Amino acid sequence: MSTRRTQVAIIGAGPAGLMLSHLLHLHGIESVVLEVRDRAYVEHRVRAGVLEQGTVDLLQDSGIGERLLREGQPHEAINLQFQGERHRLAMTELTGRRITVYGQQEVVKDLIAQRLADDGLIVFEADGLTVDGVDGDDPVVRYRVDGVQHELHADFVAGCDGSYGVSKDAVPDGVLTTYERTYPFAWLGILAQAAPAVHELIYARHENGFALYSLRSPQVSRLYLQVAPDEDLAQWPDERVWAELHTRLELDGDPVRVTEGPVLEKGITPMRSLVVEPMQHRRLFLAGDAVHIVPPTGAKGMNLAIADARLLGRAFDAWYARSDRELLDAYTATALRRVWRAQHFSWWMTSMLHRFDGHDPYEEQLALSQLRYATTSQAYARSLAENYVGLLDV
Ligand code: FAD
Ligand code: PHB
Repeated sequence: MSTRRTQVAIIGAGPAGLMLSHLLHLHGIESVVLEVRDRAYVEHRVRAGVLEQGTVDLLQDSGIGERLLREGQPHEAINLQFQGERHRLAMTELTGRRITVYGQQEVVKDLIAQRLADDGLIVFEADGLTVDGVDGDDPVVRYRVDGVQHELHADFVAGCDGSYGVSKDAVPDGVLTTYERTYPFAWLGILAQAAPAVHELIYARHENGFALYSLRSPQVSRLYLQVAPDEDLAQWPDERVWAELHTRLELDGDPVRVTEGPVLEKGITPMRSLVVEPMQHRRLFLAGDAVHIVPPTGAKGMNLAIADARLLGRAFDAWYARSDRELLDAYTATALRRVWRAQHFSWWMTSMLHRFDGHDPYEEQLALSQLRYATTSQAYARSLAENYVGLLDV
């Protein structure tokens, strides 16, 4: 068995854990990142693609933005499509801010490369991880690598281990409250070697269900379809996926035709809204999907994970530099303001754009009325846009 000590033990090498480790390093605080998967797996997991301006600014200001600046695609608008019409929502015109399309796995690759260049320690394939002692002064994380047991002692533990993580199990029963909503559908997503036929994302409400036309690069498209929550991927050969994308995304008399190409990746994502609070307990601080999940319709999950890391980075800096606990103590309250705004926005976008089998015609008309309002009223459009590009002060 080996034993080592660090200042902050970070569980999970996703956007939250890696960003936090990087920010701590910039403040001269040592951390170790423990990740159950191998490096190739986390660097190739296809997920989010939309970065808020605040996320891009943080990556750039902290020295991670070089490839992002070169390869990321700034977008100034999205399209909302319903009842056979497509409406452009000019986000930058409405808010002065924009989003950048850059794959989450690219952010993860950039952060891993920087941590390793700065001699940071990331332990991949850390198995059977448990967290103990967060109530006392010497929390410890135990894990195995290649069958060998390790113990990592730390001043603090940061649980950044995503929706299936174990770090929140270290919180005693009765402390955490969970707010939750599940949706009666999932998203089937594909990544395809196909030049996108559009330059700006299309969010489409269709009688067959929601569809999203997104992209990763001038040669790679990312597309999603609303499917049943228990959908079997085997029932969706590529031809069926393309046929459904054509049906839901293309409009009569409109030149946009979904470009087909080899499917590089295909997967199903369940849709869930979840908040667990408080986001801290004594020496344990929780961040990202470990404590809050949003349906991807608002493109908020990764941005929230990175916003949590920013707050924790500042709070640990105040503690280590000046023995000031105020920001650490305020972490949950501060983070939850942004989290709940994103919860509402993601739920709202999801409700407005999806087909709910349980909905009666009255509810359907309400959803359509909101879409119509968002595409005709500047005030409503601006509200949607400012949430989408990311609020600065929540
Ligand atoms: P994760 O990325 O899940 O990282 C957690 C890490 O912890 C993982 O590497 C995991 O392997 C590791 N881990 C788990 N358990 C353990 C353990 N026991 N021991 C050690 N390590 C462990 N968000 C957006 O902002 N914009 C989008 O456009 C967007 N689109 C999305 C589309 C899809 C299809 C999906 C699925 C998600 C999307 N999201 C989007 C959400 C976004 O991907 C997540 O919110 C984001 O990954 C959260 O980051 P995280 O670091 O908190 O968690
Ligand atoms: C993506 O490109 O993966 C993407 C874009 C917008 C979303 C969700 C996912 O709302």
